[in-house]
Amino acid sequence: MTILIAVASKHGSTREIAQAIAEDLRAKELVVDLREAGEIASIDGYDAVMLGSGIYAGSWLPEAKHFAETQRTELARLPVWLFSSGPLGDDPQPHDDPQKLAAPLGDVVVRDHRIFVGKLDRQNLGFGERLIARVVGVPEGDFRDWDAIHAWAGEIAVALAPAVASSDILS
Ligand SMILES: Cc1cc2nc3c(=O)[nH]c(=O)nc-3n(C[C@H](O)[C@H](O)[C@H](O)COP(=O)(O)O)c2cc1C
Repeated sequence: MTILIAVASKHGSTREIAQAIAEDLRAKELVVDLREAGEIASIDGYDAVMLGSGIYAGSWLPEAKHFAETQRTELARLPVWLFSSGPLGDDPQPHDDPQKLAAPLGDVVVRDHRIFVGKLDRQNLGFGERLIARVVGVPEGDFRDWDAIHAWAGEIAVALAPAVASSDILS
């Protein structure tokens, strides 16, 4: 069983979340490919997919949307998990609707969609982004909740364990 983690990240913080999840799953003996969503033309050969994206102006990044739209039919046949990262601050309330974020997937049924708290480093932002961040008054810092991320990876490993066991029996 091979799991694909497809990630779209503009400033790297969602990619680091994807890397942490990949490491946790590999530690449970799962085979994981971590790839950029924008570089994936086919998901043939994968048995489960996780798609992650940073949130910008209430949407996934274009690469995540494109991946979801173009791979919808294949994704509908696989177990799919989603994660989005965006809300900032020490106790932020996510204001983006998970269903709206995942709209590019159409009616693909997903096992779970987590919205994780993100990271914002003003130094890394372009002029336009810095302006938006200032106008909206978004807090700067790394608010990622690694305990929540590792706990979620653990849940997914447990969910995939029976599938791994049955593929071992068949091989
Ligand atoms: C211009 C801009 C717009 C953003 N819009 C949203 C938003 O609509 N919702 C949200 O939860 N976070 C928003 N964020 C916060 C980012 O999603 C957050 O910084 C995230 O961790 C970035 O992920 P990345 O480093 O993988 O690109 C925004 C950040 C910037 C700079």
